[in-house]
Amino acid sequence: MTTALSESTIATVKATAPVLQQHGVAITTRMYQRLFENEEVRALFDQAAQDSGEQPRRLAAAILGYAQNVDKLQNLSGAVARMVARHVETGVKPEHYPLVADALLPAIRDVVGEAATDEVLAAWGEAYWFLAEILIGKEREIYAERA
Ligand code: HEM
Repeated sequence: MTTALSESTIATVKATAPVLQQHGVAITTRMYQRLFENEEVRALFDQAAQDSGEQPRRLAAAILGYAQNVDKLQNLSGAVARMVARHVETGVKPEHYPLVADALLPAIRDVVGEAATDEVLAAWGEAYWFLAEILIGKEREIYAERA
């Protein structure tokens, strides 16, 4: 079971939604630069969607939607289902999730600098893992059904 996010984490994540709206694509573009230092991970992605900027935009939109709905996750069920479907199609595995966390959190700091305080990054780290656990659980079920 995933432990619920604390009130203070929810408040911090929601408060940073405007910053993400402004810098979302810069953050996800930087995140992919960091992530793709790993060749195995890079190979999972459609390079055309990267080069066109489509995938960084989709991820930025997903992160923003999450920040705005972190206390109303029922609003995200359609978005979560699409992510899960795409992840299963491309073979995303649980062990990839730490790699994305380790690329995303430093990317936030790279782009917004000291405005991403340790408190903000810690809240986003928790929120990332909260969503990641939901995705991992649903993806695991589908992989198990198919096995
Ligand atoms: C909480 C973490 C994550 C979120 C919020 C997320 C979000 C998304 C979203 C919004 C999409 C686009 C879905 C669509 O086409 O409508 C997507 C696709 C994808 N994600 Fe994730 N993702 C996460 C973790 C991961 C991880 C750990 C990996 C593996 C390294 C990964 C690899 C991919 C790939 C390969 C695609 C398909 C991209 C393509 O079309 O080339 N994601 N993800």
